[in-house]
Amino acid sequence: MEASKEKIKIIKLEDLPKQIGKEVHVNGASIALFHLTSGEVHAVGSKCPHAGGPLAEGIVSGEFVFCPLHNRKISLLTGEVQAPDDGCVTTYETEVIDGYVHITV
Ligand code: FES
Repeated sequence: MEASKEKIKIIKLEDLPKQIGKEVHVNGASIALFHLTSGEVHAVGSKCPHAGGPLAEGIVSGEFVFCPLHNRKISLLTGEVQAPDDGCVTTYETEVIDGYVHITV
């Protein structure tokens, strides 16, 4: 049976600089959090689907992160690796409540 999901308070939004990824561990999941220049916060699985590169250390550009190991480009909105490569990371729902980022895991 799949465990039910929970919305978990993670960090103050003001402690999450824009365009700098942050890796967090929540309910056994390793998640990379990103605060985009648009103000949106997105959360994806922290490991690149190619060879496990740490996505929280990648360069953020717009709604994409570039894996620090071999530069694959991954959408932070859909989790999809962009062509010509392929693959996908899990995306997690985020919400800012009273100034704190919450993730549903
Ligand atoms: S591990 Fe991310 S591109 Fe290779």
